[in-house]
Amino acid sequence: MRYDAVLVLDFGGQYCHLIGRRIREQGVYSEILPHNIKTEDFKLLNEKFDVKGLILSGGPASVYDANAPKVDVKIFDFGLPVLGLCYGHQLIAHLAGGKVGPAKRREYGVAYVTIDKPVGVLKGLNRMEKVWMSHSDIVFSVPPEFEVLACTENCPVAAFRHKEKPIYGLQWHPEVVHTEKGIQMLRNFLFEVCQCKANWRMEDLIGRMIEEVKAEVGEGKAIIALSGGIDSSVATVVAAKAIGDRLTAVFVDHGFMREKEPEFVKNIFKRFKINLVMVNAKERFLKRLKGVVDPERKRKIIGEEFIRVFEEEAEKAGAEYLIQGTIYPDRIESGFRKFSDKIKTHHNVAGLPTRIKFKKIVEPLRDLYKDEVRKVAKVLGLPEEIVFRQPFPGPGLAVRVAGELTEKKVEIARKADKIIREEIEKSGLKRKLWQYFAVLTDTKATGVKGDARTYGYVVAIRAVESREAMTASFARIPYRVLEKISTRITNEIPEVVRVVYDITHKPPATIEWE
Ligand code: XMP
Repeated sequence: MRYDAVLVLDFGGQYCHLIGRRIREQGVYSEILPHNIKTEDFKLLNEKFDVKGLILSGGPASVYDANAPKVDVKIFDFGLPVLGLCYGHQLIAHLAGGKVGPAKRREYGVAYVTIDKPVGVLKGLNRMEKVWMSHSDIVFSVPPEFEVLACTENCPVAAFRHKEKPIYGLQWHPEVVHTEKGIQMLRNFLFEVCQCKANWRMEDLIGRMIEEVKAEVGEGKAIIALSGGIDSSVATVVAAKAIGDRLTAVFVDHGFMREKEPEFVKNIFKRFKINLVMVNAKERFLKRLKGVVDPERKRKIIGEEFIRVFEEEAEKAGAEYLIQGTIYPDRIESGFRKFSDKIKTHHNVAGLPTRIKFKKIVEPLRDLYKDEVRKVAKVLGLPEEIVFRQPFPGPGLAVRVAGELTEKKVEIARKADKIIREEIEKSGLKRKLWQYFAVLTDTKATGVKGDARTYGYVVAIRAVESREAMTASFARIPYRVLEKISTRITNEIPEVVRVVYDITHKPPATIEWE
């Protein structure tokens, strides 16, 4: 069966992959391609899918920079509908001879756009719509073969279209949830402009992932890093379906796990027919991290040590392949693409040492977002405890204890984490929150307990709402729940004298503190 597909050309924007995922959510297949894809490669793709349209993503460059990423203009000759978003919007205008330049006022965040002509991509929209902007350049004018469809106070050409060809540009980001009618705009492009059929399903993706693991591993053996989080659990089940008992799942207890984590993992996976090896590596991790304060170094060391442990286990199992549950946001924020900025090193990506003994690392979930992984998990029959588990970072509590790691500090963070989890779960807020956890800060403060002066740690509570971890808002947790958590932490953990609540969104903060 040939799927209808809309392809996204990647100019390095933070939200680029989100576009692909939003399209797939509408039942249309989508893939992200490098912006400089050759027309021949493009033709090959067109043999696999019915390519119905192209989206040019946003990106951090300026179209008039000498080395700004460009697109092979021959692609426009295919006559396919094209939608440019942000940088893509500016690029189309620039290539057509329009005027693009720095905006007097940069716009980041919510903006109100006036829609003068609700046609094509903007069909059915109101005169005033709430959109998400994030740009420093704008389009000042377009040539006569184009018409302006919308503007904002700072942006005279916020949307345009070609008068005869199906070419559109939007200055804003319809793929981001803060653009209120973003989905409608994308649906207009898919179904009105590109005339796509919605004939793609999540099950097709599972089949493709299984086939991919089979093809990559061949007759070989593989091990997988199973952490008990949703990503590695899904990757384990996918890999087991692909290669059966040639797979060994390895759970490494690096000592930065949540309370009773190894028991939890053992319990869940005994229901599946999977070779599971539990490794207690607490001592070696702590030894390597002695005296290390810098968060990025911590992440690198943990990533490296992980790989070393896996290499040893792989040798025992006779496995030459490593399978990982890396998902898309892990990769984008590790700066794996040439035109995007590195934010932090996620341990299972850029933290990998360059000298790897595995023949290959296979990452079947690499293009998925967390909630897509949840859907896959349900289809695969994984239990609710896994499907709705909050994400937990690979380096675990190590990135939730600021400064040097000691067994004592990790234990405090673990106890505080347990209290927060229990109270949030009791309050019924669990499913509303993306993550909720404790951070042991490296600030000490004065307190008074039982009429005596105390001097001890400050614990921060972090709880966020998010859809895919690329952006997040701090959660407005009721004071009574915060109060309960604070009281329990200071009562039950003698070393803690003060509890604070983190009220920072992402951006500018990240979700984890380190
Ligand atoms: P940040 O802190 O970058 O986190 O806003 C985004 C999401 O990723 C999780 N996270 C990680 N996941 N390995 C992982 O598998 C890591 O090294 C890592 N660091 C952060 C974080 O918990 C949040 O859900």
